Order: sequence, then structure tokens, then C-alpha cells
Amino acid sequence: MLSNTMHYTQLISGLFLLPSILSTSACVTPNPTPSAFTDFNDNILFFPAATAVQWKTLYARSLQLPDESLLMTWENYPAEPPLVTHPIYKSVDGGATWSNFSAITDKVNGWGMRFQPFLYTLPQAFGGYAAGTILAAGVSTPFSLTGGVYIDLYVSQDNAQTWNFVSHIAFGNGPEDITSGHAAIWEPFLMMYNGQLVCYFSDQRDSAHSQKLVHVTTNDLHTWSALVNDVAYSAYNDRPGMTTVAHIESTNQYIMTYEYCGSGKCAVYYKTAANPLNFNSATGIALVGNNTNHSVPYGSPYVIWTANPGKSDGSGVIIASGGSQEPVFINSDNADPQGWKVVDVGQWSAYSRSLRIITVKGKKKLMFGNGGNMGDPSCNSVANGVIEVPY
Ligand SMILES: *[C@@H]1O[C@H](CO)[C@@H](O)[C@H](O)[C@H]1NC(C)=O
Ligand SMILES: *[C@@H]1O[C@H](CO)[C@@H](O)[C@H](O)[C@H]1NC(C)=O
Ligand SMILES: *[C@@H]1O[C@H](CO)[C@@H](O)[C@H](O)[C@H]1NC(C)=O
Repeated sequence: MLSNTMHYTQLISGLFLLPSILSTSACVTPNPTPSAFTDFNDNILFFPAATAVQWKTLYARSLQLPDESLLMTWENYPAEPPLVTHPIYKSVDGGATWSNFSAITDKVNGWGMRFQPFLYTLPQAFGGYAAGTILAAGVSTPFSLTGGVYIDLYVSQDNAQTWNFVSHIAFGNGPEDITSGHAAIWEPFLMMYNGQLVCYFSDQRDSAHSQKLVHVTTNDLHTWSALVNDVAYSAYNDRPGMTTVAHIESTNQYIMTYEYCGSGKCAVYYKTAANPLNFNSATGIALVGNNTNHSVPYGSPYVIWTANPGKSDGSGVIIASGGSQEPVFINSDNADPQGWKVVDVGQWSAYSRSLRIITVKGKKKLMFGNGGNMGDPSCNSVANGVIEVPY
């Protein structure tokens, strides 16, 4: 993970990021506002103010409410004070137009909600909250990036209107930057598994690893388990990052994607496992397109699974996205290393481009959430796209 221009420069020199990661869709021309409840791409929904700092916007994450309205949050960089928040924008017309709805504000640390928000709907009653309760995890740390960092958990019981603090998921001493040896934590991803809530994240606190991927679990949303590794390379400077996980329902397997920075040059890798608490024992596989060019996605991956719209046999498609490529990578349920079909979807790439299956007037669609790229920050804004589910 990167947190400001200085660290971005460090990353470029230290981890050999390819220029293609940075140039794809960097500066963009807005499309006209789409009509309500239609398919569209590259729809800018939030332009940062001219006074916004650093990256201005990055890392968009979405959610859909039961009434089909849509939420978007992102890593925001307004001038401070007031303390930065994770904004919540809402669309009631299938993602065509959006307005400011609420914000997840830091209620405990006095630092702001600064990096990598993630939204999740509880699929079952859990921890004293009803099914349908919305959870939000995010990174809270001071503007100076020094003095400590928490991954914090917030909850909304009124469809994202108001938010309350629930618990600290993890703490690092900081500084919250990507320098090896600095006790930083990044990029929470929440998922229920087997009656527990899992929080996956990136962890620089282990002195044996510049960064590794880990998870913790909870039975009550308040107390969190000890750490379990998911990806930890023996080479100290290797930095696996940015876990996302999807359940392959047809086979009851799980797939995780991550970027393999360091000796992997930030190429997107994946692991599959029957138990998503046991990715550590699975081998990471490079995600390479099976087109004649063997397209390789670099950086900031995201993965989802959904039933295959072209079949009615219960089989599905795995859809993966990487920061350096506009197309998505689509596989069948076995996640065959030779099975990654490269499908152009007409949507800008982004750091990182989130994927979510939504419904628009009852019909399944794929929604993208873009927060901009790590090129010229003045090109960044928040955009979405809604398309037919590719397969
Ligand atoms: C959006 O709304 C929230 C909650 O009302 C408010 O705190 C925030 O300042 C608003 N943001 C903008 C950019 O207007
Ligand atoms: C595939 O590679 C060829 C030859 O380098 C190039 O001309 C073409 O644009 C590439 N196609 C894609 C889709 O990247
Ligand atoms: C690529 O993978 C897909 C499955 O996702 C398969 O249908 C297709 O035949 C493969 N293409 C090649 C050239 O192997």
C-alpha cells in the first residue's frame, strides 16, 4: 500500500512498479451523466475539490441496500481540518447519479478515517446485530502518519445513515507508511465464514517480513483472535498486499487475490482453498490471461464470484480485476491457471477498482467502483460503471 507522494516515490524505486500501472486511464474526460437504470461506463460521481491533497481520491468500495439503492465510499483527501472521513454517497437510480448521504467519522482516536474503507452487509444476525446491519472497516491514523494506526470497525443499523464505533480490529505503532520496519497496517476486507467474521488485512508489524497478509476473526465483533498468516514470503522485501476473497459457491471453495510486490513486481496472484482461514497452506499462482498476448495484471486486484448468467447448472464465473489493465479476467469455478479469459469491459482501471454484483430493477449487473490511479493525483476522481455480467 502507498500513502503519500513520498512513499509512492519510494515504491517506484524500491519495487520496480511498471510504468503501465501508472499511466492507464490516468487523466480522463468525464462521460455525460447516464440515464437512470441503464448500463454505462466511466461515470464520474465525485470530483475532489481543488484544495484536496496528496492522492485526492483512491480506492472506491460499494454496497447495495435491500431497496436496490447503492452506496459508494472511498479514500478521500480533503484539506484538513476538519478530520478526514470515509464519505458515503448514495444512488437511487441504478448508479447513474449520486449524492452525499453520510460519512463514517472517527469517533474514538481523534485521527480521522484516512485509508481503505470497506463496506459489508451482515448476512445473518451476529454480535447482537440483526441480519442486514452494515459494517464498515477502515484505517484510522493521524495526518502525520505517526503516533499509531488502527483498523477500526463501525456499524450502521439504519442503512448507512448513522455510524457507531464497535471495536479496534488491529493496532500498529506506525508510522503508517510503506517503509520496511514501520509497524503499519492496511486494507481490511471483511467476510463471514463458519459463524465468524473474518478481517483480512496487510501487515508490516512482523520483523521477518516487509509486509505479509494476515487475518483475524471474531465471534462477537468486539474481541478479535490472534493473527493468522495468509501469505508471507520468505524473502524479507517481498510485499504481498491487498487481499480480497470470494466464495465459489458451486464448489464451496474460496479464492483470494493479492498483489505480489517485491520480487513479484506487484503481479496479481491468487490462491484457492476449501477453508478461507487456511490460505497460508495454499500455493500462490500468478494470474495470467490466456489470450495470445498473455496479459498480466499488476497491482491492486479484486475478485468476486457469481452464478454464470449463460448457464443454469449452478456453475459460476470468477471475475478478477487488476490495477494495470482495463479488461477483467474471467475464469470458471476451477480457477484453472490456463483459464483466465481476458474480457474488455470498457471501464477505466483504478487503484483499486472494486467489483460488485448488484441488481438493477431485479436484473443482475456488475458494478465497478473506481477511485483513480496512482499516476498524477490531479487526474483522480471517483467513478462507477454498470454493465451486463460478463462471462
Ligand atoms: C456529507 O454529509 C455528511 C453527513 O451529513 C457531512 O458530514 C459531510 O460534511 C458532507 N460532505 C460534503 C462533502 O458535503
Ligand atoms: C498483443 O500483442 C501485439 C503484438 O505485440 C500488439 O500489437 C497488440 O496490440 C496486443 N493486443 C492486446 C490486446 O494487448
Ligand atoms: C481461456 O479460458 C476460457 C475459460 O475461462 C476457455 O473457455 C478458453 O478456451 C481459454 N482460451 C484459450 C485460448 O485457451
